[in-house]
Amino acid sequence: MAEYIKIKDVARYNGQEVTLKGWLYNKRSSGKLRFLLLRDGTEIIQCVVFKGSVSPEVFERATQLTQESSCIITGVVSEDKRSALGYEIQVNDLEIVQIAGEYPISKKEHGVDFLMDHRHLWLRSKKQHALIRIRHEVIRAAREFFDSRDFTLVDTPIFTPNAAEGTTTLFETDYFDQKAYLTQSGQLYGEAAAMAFGNIYCFGPTFRAEKSKTRRHLTEFWMIEPEMAYCDLDQDMDVAEAFVTHLVQSVLKNRRRELEVLERDTSKLENIRPPFPRIHYNEAVEIIKKQNPDFIDGDDFGAADETIISEQFDRPVMVHRYPAEVKAFYMKRDPENANHALAMDMLAPEGYGEIIGGSQREDDYDALLERIREHNLPEKAFAWYLDLRKYGSVPHAGFGLGIERTVAWIAGIRHVRETIPFPRTMTRLYP
Ligand code: 4AD
Ligand code: MG
Repeated sequence: MAEYIKIKDVARYNGQEVTLKGWLYNKRSSGKLRFLLLRDGTEIIQCVVFKGSVSPEVFERATQLTQESSCIITGVVSEDKRSALGYEIQVNDLEIVQIAGEYPISKKEHGVDFLMDHRHLWLRSKKQHALIRIRHEVIRAAREFFDSRDFTLVDTPIFTPNAAEGTTTLFETDYFDQKAYLTQSGQLYGEAAAMAFGNIYCFGPTFRAEKSKTRRHLTEFWMIEPEMAYCDLDQDMDVAEAFVTHLVQSVLKNRRRELEVLERDTSKLENIRPPFPRIHYNEAVEIIKKQNPDFIDGDDFGAADETIISEQFDRPVMVHRYPAEVKAFYMKRDPENANHALAMDMLAPEGYGEIIGGSQREDDYDALLERIREHNLPEKAFAWYLDLRKYGSVPHAGFGLGIERTVAWIAGIRHVRETIPFPRTMTRLYP
């Protein structure tokens, strides 16, 4: 078979004959012309079939092609100032690989449920394509950030014997003659790894039996979690703001075209640079109460409250020292006020809410044991975790960033379900 090239590279072949392999995105016909929009996963290009310059068989094949039919096109690359790509193809030959049946997704408006039922096909459309490429860039940049700072990647298990983030959202499964739970967070293992390697990160899917049907919740989502030995809450926030800045700036640099497809207002992303505002929980409560007088001091923030706070700032805001009662058992108490935990959440602008949750961890054996008992957690399952406080305990901190919420914010789309190739929610397990 002849050599073929990717559409994204056509500029290098201006004036030359090339072969492209792809799928028919769209077609227009007028008299002796067939305008075929060919996509190959890298780009879309217009291929012009002129009856006068191809064999009758080739013209007939171009006429037959249906949406999403697979085909191989050979033709000459020529400049076309009107197209976004800047080039089109003057077709000499066309080979059909398969004629597609009537494609379920057409130009007309479809409901989200219909599109989600056809997620395996919907991924081919422009907007979904752009979103998944932005997701890829966020993940690439996230790994780059930690790799270039000498953090060691330590993969943590999916099957776990205990809860990390509260027992109400655990997915339980039979594990031979015992119970196992799908991991809610790699953090506890990350802490063990930080005591071995200093700075580590884990990255993988995490699971929560979330019974909430919101635009921010998935049951399976991807989280990247750094953990650092000899690190306090302020240093943890320093890393978090540098990290999020790197993610945003990388997408702006490497995924401009995709942001354009999504019609994202990028001016709102350009100024995402340190320092990010840092406010105490009590300060956040003051802000909320001005707009929501019913808010009860000491409560956790709801989505609406987070929006009120984030609207005050033009970049992500970090709220720290939440009431210990609304936060996880492993967080260290604030030495200034034991009712507050050394916790921090990063809230994204434009109403996207929490993208990062993190904290300084309890490093004292007795205090941690007390917390485990208070939370009615099975002591035996946490014996190894308590060991970390027996053998060379040090101050340490870390955080977790949810990939899907971060992509939703950077891409400027409302719902997290479109930021992951095959979303899992309370009501969706297919396809
Ligand atoms: O705030 P969370 O629960 O923190 C932890 O799991 C810590 N153990 C992380 C750590 O310190 N290593 O979750 C962290 C982030 C949230 O800020 C959010 O971005 C995302 O994970 N997240 C979800 N994303 C989608 N769907 C859900 N159901 C999510 N739950 C949390
Ligand atoms: Mg949280």
